[in-house]
Amino acid sequence: MDEHPPAAPPAPIVVADPAEACGRVAEELHTLLAEGARDGRPVVLGLATGGTMVGVYAALVERLRAEPVDLSRVTTFNLDEFLGLPAEHPLSFWSFMTQHLFGPAGFAPERCHFPDAELAAQQPGLAGEAYQALIARHGGIDLQLLGIGRNGHVAFNEPGTSAVAVTRVVPLHEHTREDAAAAFGGLEQVPTHAITMGLLELRAARRLRLLAFGAGKAAAVRAMLSGPVSPACPASLLRNHADLQVLTDGAAASALDA
Ligand code: PGA
Repeated sequence: MDEHPPAAPPAPIVVADPAEACGRVAEELHTLLAEGARDGRPVVLGLATGGTMVGVYAALVERLRAEPVDLSRVTTFNLDEFLGLPAEHPLSFWSFMTQHLFGPAGFAPERCHFPDAELAAQQPGLAGEAYQALIARHGGIDLQLLGIGRNGHVAFNEPGTSAVAVTRVVPLHEHTREDAAAAFGGLEQVPTHAITMGLLELRAARRLRLLAFGAGKAAAVRAMLSGPVSPACPASLLRNHADLQVLTDGAAASALDA
């Protein structure tokens, strides 16, 4: 028997609607947090922002209200942050996380980490290395949540990113800035750069859970799961991860071959 068969791309978990996918992921997160609390083991979560995550965090907050868990040993690392916005800016990812998860669920703010956008604006190399080192000091990420951009980006790893890219400052792709323009009140208001975890750190997470909803994501999901494994679609570079789940609704899975 061939000991090294080419890994088959994972089949997406196609569910009836986004609420079902968010509920499944929230349940898995709740179980991970509850087991960590029971065993006195630290849990390290990798967290994402974006519209897709709103439902995941709402479901997790609801689950934690129904069945509270001691979160005092939980550490979180967010994927990315815009450069040029103070943390308290309403559109910063820190604000998003505080509003949707950390505040309502009661995560300890000092254990919730973001790449340091202020340091990154001055000393990009140092900011990237510091974040990588902090993640490593916590023993790596147990479960990483991910969305996917319509251009196949994961975090701000835009098309063309190498599979071994690490946390670093990146220019934002025009599609990414266009997608953010409405929220910022115009394209010219959207930051041009961000600091993002790299594909190397994402591939090192022990579990990856990527969610994609709606027809606008169908081409990206197809490229991720059925196209070549290539920097042209950064998400495809996660495809051979040993514990990757891709959860979609029917619309996001609609371009995949039956
Ligand atoms: P979205 O963003 O959840 O707002 O669609 C996902 C992403 O760009 O990674």
